Amino acid sequence: MLNLVLFGPPGAGKGTQAEYLIESFGLIHLSTGDLLRSEIAAQTELGNEAKRLMDKGELVPDEMVIGMIKGKLDANKDAKGFIFDGFPRTVDQAKALDVLLNENGTPVSGMLCLQVEKQELINRLLSRGKISGRSDDQNQSIIENRIAVYSEKTLPLINYYEPQGKHFDVDGMGPIEDIAGRLKKVVEKL
Ligand code: AP5
Repeated sequence: MLNLVLFGPPGAGKGTQAEYLIESFGLIHLSTGDLLRSEIAAQTELGNEAKRLMDKGELVPDEMVIGMIKGKLDANKDAKGFIFDGFPRTVDQAKALDVLLNENGTPVSGMLCLQVEKQELINRLLSRGKISGRSDDQNQSIIENRIAVYSEKTLPLINYYEPQGKHFDVDGMGPIEDIAGRLKKVVEKL
């Protein structure tokens, strides 16, 4: 079983690259951002609480996303593996993921960290904001807060996976297909 954590700041291309990895390796894509946006669209209690935080570029509570991931893992017990996109985002989430995966004896295989320059992240997200309607892409200060939250709360996860030999940096700049090729080479070695 192959369990990949697709990692990187907002706008690094996690969702875009997940599509290529699904195609190449037949994995199930679990994006906590997408799951939360579905809850918002369905106007559930969880969605309403999440929206308040997501609109400001803040993280939602750990228990909220861990519960969603647990539900998806339980519902896909026969999967060949998973791509976790936007999860884990805190050390507590990473620890919870290990517990959930170890229940099935299938640990995280690797954490692929997309490296993209800050100005490129901002450009990508502002351009998507013009067409996507995503509220957190609408202005530079929210985007900058998302990047700051990433640096403060999510980046330390590298120190969690690095000692386990599971952290791999991948250049996330340039044409999408080139980046997909770089990721594929790393995954093939796992
Ligand atoms: P989430 O939905 O995970 O958003 P994000 O991390 O901010 O990431 P994005 O989806 O914006 O970027 P991406 O890296 O996937 O890039 P993409 O491929 O889309 O999270 C949103 C919010 O939900 C969080 O702020 C938080 O509030 C909450 N949340 C989610 N998970 C959580 C968790 N685990 N814990 C707590 N809270 C959580 O690409 C971006 C754009 O760039 C696209 O338009 C794309 O077409 C373009 N692009 C991609 N690659 C390239 C390229 N190589 N060249 C040019 N353009 C490119």
